[in-house]
Amino acid sequence: MKERLEEIKVKALEAIQEADNDKYLEELRVKILGKKGELTAILKGMKDLSKEERPVVGMIANEIREIIQTSIDKKKEDFKWEELKNRLIEERLDVTASKDLVHIGHRHPLNQTMNELEDLFRHMGFSIVDGPEIETVLNNFDKLNSPKNHPSRDMSDTFYFDESTLLRTHTSPVQVRVMENQKPPIRMVSAGRTFRFDEVDATHSPMFHQIEGLVIGENVSMANLIDTINAFIKNLFGEEFSTRYRPHYFPFTEPSIEVDVSCFACKGKGCDICNHTGWSMELLGGGMVHPQVLENCGIDSEKYTGFAFGMGVDRITMVKYGLDDIRLIYDNDKRFLQQF
Ligand code: DAH
Repeated sequence: MKERLEEIKVKALEAIQEADNDKYLEELRVKILGKKGELTAILKGMKDLSKEERPVVGMIANEIREIIQTSIDKKKEDFKWEELKNRLIEERLDVTASKDLVHIGHRHPLNQTMNELEDLFRHMGFSIVDGPEIETVLNNFDKLNSPKNHPSRDMSDTFYFDESTLLRTHTSPVQVRVMENQKPPIRMVSAGRTFRFDEVDATHSPMFHQIEGLVIGENVSMANLIDTINAFIKNLFGEEFSTRYRPHYFPFTEPSIEVDVSCFACKGKGCDICNHTGWSMELLGGGMVHPQVLENCGIDSEKYTGFAFGMGVDRITMVKYGLDDIRLIYDNDKRFLQQF
């Protein structure tokens, strides 16, 4: 009987070892330890044993029962761990994975243009300066030699806070700030927001953007202005573009000019967009800084001369990207903005 018990133990342990699932283990348990199991049958047969043998065999049988039960329990535990391990692998969440769902935006076309303009001038040796959007009437008009009766001063054209403070109507007051705070030679550009009391339509917005340039030094001439603008236009739009200079009037420059650039659609041949003139009109205003403006800002106009220019960044953005309505720039419609 002892041999039989030993045999059951060895076979049971082998079978448990080879078991590959929980269900099979349970079947094994029933087959060996269950009410009708092999080991149980042996225990039932113990009544035929002698008095001396009975407790010995009983002890061995119980030991074996325990060994088998422990072995089954351990195997079941192994299965549980195995299953958990597999689930962890299967359900792993890789938080580092970069999915296409992450859309990183880009700069607004207007800011792209503004940065590009600043970069071009930086490469030409200009420094970049910033000016406030809330300005004094003094800087925005008076020191720039703007006559007291100039229409742009009118309440209907300018956003005033009070008699002496306003939202700047152009970036030109930055010239004043720089001249008052720096000694020549000066070479700077300043881009930013400007404001005028305009009705919104395809070409007007009460808030728009300009970039201003100022160069002051000894012997700075109109030739330097033209050369700088020509180089800038060719850098920005391409070598094939030409410029045309027309006389104009600005209170803060003398002489003053306006600059046209060959039409972007037909490159100067003449088309519907340029009214068959071959030119994109009024892209830029400029001139030689008026001696009175130099004096107003504490610069000796006998010793120094300078040129200045200003242009609309919105206008340049529209021309550059072929936009026919300024409102597109400010609508913040993603379908539009995603294209650039
Ligand atoms: N401030 C002018 C405007 O808003 C543009 C301008 C013209 C700026 C001539 C200048 C300049 O610096 O010299 O229309």
